[in-house]
Amino acid sequence: MAVVLETVGLTKSFGGVLALDDIHVAIAAGEVVGIIGANGAGKTTFVNAITGYVKPDRGRIAYLGRDITAHPPREITGLGLARSFQVPQIYTSLSVLENVLLTLAARARQSRRVWTPLHTPEREGQAIAVLEPFGLKEHARRPVSELPEGGLKLLDIALSTALRPKLLLLDEPTSGVSSSDKFGVMETLLQILREQRVTVIFVEHDMDVVTRYAERLLAFVEGRIIADGVPAEVLANPEVRRVVLGSA
Ligand SMILES: Nc1ncnc2c1ncn2[C@@H]1O[C@H](COP(=O)(O)OP(=O)(O)O)[C@@H](O)[C@H]1O
Ligand SMILES: [Mg+2]
Repeated sequence: MAVVLETVGLTKSFGGVLALDDIHVAIAAGEVVGIIGANGAGKTTFVNAITGYVKPDRGRIAYLGRDITAHPPREITGLGLARSFQVPQIYTSLSVLENVLLTLAARARQSRRVWTPLHTPEREGQAIAVLEPFGLKEHARRPVSELPEGGLKLLDIALSTALRPKLLLLDEPTSGVSSSDKFGVMETLLQILREQRVTVIFVEHDMDVVTRYAERLLAFVEGRIIADGVPAEVLANPEVRRVVLGSA
């Protein structure tokens, strides 16, 4: 299977804290990979380094065989590698629909590099199609600030799918989503991503979500990957149980 993403010796420290400590990992096309780890284990830094938001001290990142180490985020997104944020990056004063339209316009600029109008009937149709699977269609005309709980997170994820990425990194996609809605969100999201043949890496706290949706699991401890394999195996690993799950 083709390798989509590969890191070689990826290392990053902040002051005295080694947030990423010599990370070597390869992700194959179509994999759905979960990342677990205690707070401060380096999960977000890993996502930030890959997407260009953090410049690594050492090491290389290759995406589809191409070196993207320390490339600017917009350039990386333009290559088909998108992300969502632990705290959604959304224009809260605009409507839900306008946020999607802005993302679609950004995508069009990336491919055509010409200015195109934001509101066209065609664009609106595309935007509604982005919102619909996430149950956000009926909220399209509302200001983002009036979305129900968990709606911002859903919108953020919907926006990242609007970019039609080949690889999507999700930083805690279900945080802030009520536990009764978590499975529904993941179900919807993964169904869409599988249809679009997107490779997925998601950081997740909820072990039930990880067990159900990750095909492969990486466990981070203090900037290192201490276990990598199928979820049942990784979750049974004694060090993972002790350090990550806290059940000695
Ligand atoms: N921009 C930053 N400046 C200083 N320290 C940071 C920064 N980003 C992350 N860190 C530190 O790096 C470590 C890893 O953080 P992070 O990647 O956010 O962990 P996680 O997402 O696993 O909770 C933590 O000790 C955190 O405090
Ligand atoms: Mg984090």
